[in-house]
Amino acid sequence: MEKRTFLKSTLFLGVAAASSAFLNACKSAAKSTTAAAPALPAPKMRRSKPFELPALAYAADALEPHFDKMTMEIHHGKHHQAYVNNLNDAVKETVYADYELEDILLRISTSDADKKIRNNGGGHWNHTFFWQTLAPNAGGAPSGDLAAAINASFGSYDKFKEQYTNAAKSVFGSGWAWLCIGKDKSLFISTTPNQDNPLMLQVVKQNGTPLLGLDVWEHAYYLKYQNKRPDYIAAFYNLINWNEVNNRYKKAMFG
Ligand SMILES: [Fe+2]
Repeated sequence: MEKRTFLKSTLFLGVAAASSAFLNACKSAAKSTTAAAPALPAPKMRRSKPFELPALAYAADALEPHFDKMTMEIHHGKHHQAYVNNLNDAVKETVYADYELEDILLRISTSDADKKIRNNGGGHWNHTFFWQTLAPNAGGAPSGDLAAAINASFGSYDKFKEQYTNAAKSVFGSGWAWLCIGKDKSLFISTTPNQDNPLMLQVVKQNGTPLLGLDVWEHAYYLKYQNKRPDYIAAFYNLINWNEVNNRYKKAMFG
């Protein structure tokens, strides 16, 4: 090969290789846009099993007459199961494949690429949390440290209830109403659309640790209450497991 031709070919191959490396680097960067933000703690990354539907701690008819058996069976066995199945499918071959759920929610973004994980990861976490918030023969009013915090933040339990009820009524379409504790340890009420939740640092306006959550999707109440969401919200207060909510509060406050 003539020296000049050889040099040209070498130069061409060098540029092609550099371009290819550059393109691969860009692709990697694009893939990693959903990865951890630098300020976040290192993920635990130790989940070795697929996500699973947790069993209810009570029978499907145990929340009657407030939440009916058929709604509970469909809500838990069909809707929640679908979130679990779709989440397992969505995390495959992504950076989140072996992340614990809360590590995923902390990092999830509003990008289209994250949408399926966001919706189904939120769906799985929110419903697991919701089932644990409920109990048969529960309700009443909070006590102890949590009662004091609610009184200090909202004036009284009745005033909290009024604000929380209004928040739950105000959700347009599907979503959730929350009582949360923020990083500054103050309580706040918020709502999220769809299956978003306050743990989603990069998604929600107000980030915090949920203490109480109410599912206001129609699938949660339509069989019994049809379009009467306020009646469903009123029924929820008869089922709140305040011991569990108080434990969440103490954990958030004191570790
Ligand atoms: Fe639901």
